[in-house]
Amino acid sequence: MTSEPLLAADKLNQDPRLAEAKKLILDAVAEHQKTLVSVRPPRPELAASYEQMLEQFGSIRGGKTFFPYLGSGLGNGPFVELADGSVKLDLITGIGVHGYGHSHPRLINAGIDAALSDTVMQGNLQQNTSSCDIVKLLTDVACESGAGLKHCFLTTSGAMANENSLKMAFQKNHPANRVIAFTHCFAGRTLGLAQVTDKAKYRVGLPDTIAVDYVPFFDENNPEKSIAYAVRRMKYHIDRFPGKHAALWMELVQGEGGYYEGNTEYFKALIEVAHENNIAVIADEVQTFCRTTRPYAFQHFGLDQDVDLVTIGKISQVCATLFTDEYAPQPGLISQTFTGSTWAIMAAHAIVSGLIENGNFGPAGKNVRFNQYFSKGLQAIGEKYPGSISGPHGVGGMVAFTPFDGTPEIASELVKRLYHAGLMSFMAGGSPSRVRFLLPLGCIDESHIDLACQIIENVVAEMDN
Ligand SMILES: Cc1ncc(COP(=O)(O)O)c(C=O)c1O
Repeated sequence: MTSEPLLAADKLNQDPRLAEAKKLILDAVAEHQKTLVSVRPPRPELAASYEQMLEQFGSIRGGKTFFPYLGSGLGNGPFVELADGSVKLDLITGIGVHGYGHSHPRLINAGIDAALSDTVMQGNLQQNTSSCDIVKLLTDVACESGAGLKHCFLTTSGAMANENSLKMAFQKNHPANRVIAFTHCFAGRTLGLAQVTDKAKYRVGLPDTIAVDYVPFFDENNPEKSIAYAVRRMKYHIDRFPGKHAALWMELVQGEGGYYEGNTEYFKALIEVAHENNIAVIADEVQTFCRTTRPYAFQHFGLDQDVDLVTIGKISQVCATLFTDEYAPQPGLISQTFTGSTWAIMAAHAIVSGLIENGNFGPAGKNVRFNQYFSKGLQAIGEKYPGSISGPHGVGGMVAFTPFDGTPEIASELVKRLYHAGLMSFMAGGSPSRVRFLLPLGCIDESHIDLACQIIENVVAEMDN
C-alpha cells in the first residue's frame, strides 16, 4: 500500500493532471519538431524583419553578434530553427552549452518540473531540495575513483566558479598571492580571470589584478622535452617568488587555446612540484566537463588523487566549484544572491545522469565513438582536398581541425561559410587558428556527423578553387 504524501509539493507532483499536461506539451513539441530534420535556408519573406531585429539587437547590445543568429525558440536535437526560417545543424552548441541539443524532451521535462518548483532562481538563504540533489550527484561522481572532492558550491557562470576556486586557494594559502598557469589558457573574463587567461587582447585597458606566471603547455610533438622544460620553468618561478604561489591553474584540454591536450605524465610532473610547495591544484573543467571518457577530465587523465579544486560549467547549465576539506572557505568568503535558476539546477541533474545512463563515458563510450567517427570523416575530406584540413584534434566531444594555412582569416572565413551552408562551428586558437566543434553529446548520432561532413566537404571544395 502506498502512503499518502506528506508534502503539498509531492501531492502536486503526483497529480495526474500534471502528467497529462506534460504529455500534451511533449506531444505538441514532438509534432512541431517533425519539420526540423535537416538544414534549410532562410525564408525570403522573413528576411527584412529578421534583418531589422538583428540590427536593433546589435545596436542595443553595443555591437553585432558574430553570427547573424536569432533562434525562433524551437529545435529538434542538433537542429535549430532561426527566426528567419532557416534551420542549422548546431555542432557548436553555444560554445558547449546545449549538450542535449535543442528542445530536447528530457530538458523540457526538467523545465516543467522547475516551473512548478516555486522560485525562478535559487541562492541566498533559500534553496530547494533540487540543489541538494545536484551537489550530491556532482560530488558522488567526482569522488567515485578516489578524489577527495567532497564539497560543491553552485554558481551561475564558469567565471564565477573559477573566481570562487581562486578565492578558496588564496585564502587557504595566504599570504601567497600569485598563480601559475599554462600558456594559451582561457579562464574567463572577470577582472581576475582576464589576468589568468593568457591572451593580451582580452585584458587591453584593464588594471592588473592577480600576478600570473606561465609555464609552457604540453607539446605532443616533443613530449619529454616539453615536460622537462615546463617543470624547469615552474621551479624557476617558484625560486623567484618563494612561498608566493597559491595555485597551479590547469586547463587539461585547452579549449579557446585551440584544442590542445595535455597528458598524465605532464600534469603529474607539475602537480608534484605544486604539492611540494603547498600550491593548490585547480582543474578548470568549464569546457571539458562531460566530454572525455569520464564525466570529469581529471578522471580521464588519472589525476583523482591530485586535484584540490575543480570547476565545471557550460554543459552542466548550473556551474560549480568542487573542493576538498582542506580548501573549505571560511564563513563570509563565498556567497551569492543566485546559485542558479531552478531550471538550470534541475537540467544539470537530467544532463549529467542522462549522459552516464546513456553510455557516453568509458573507453568505448559514445563520446569517444563520435570523436572517432567525425575525425575519420574530416580526414577523408583532407585526403580528397590536400592541404585543406589537417588534424583533426581534440578529445571526445571536442573536435577541431586546422583549415588550409591556419590563419585566423581563413578559419573565420570557413566558419562563416559553413554557417551560411547550414552548419554551426567556431574558431579556436591563434597560430594556427582552428575550426572547432562542441558536439551535442546527448542527442547526436552518426547521420548528423555525416551531414556535417557533407557540408564541410562542399564548402572546402568551394574554397579550394
Ligand atoms: C576553460 C574555460 N574556463 C572558463 C570559462 C568561462 O566560463 P563562462 O563564460 O561561463 O564565464 C570558459 C568559457 O569559455 C572556458 O572555456
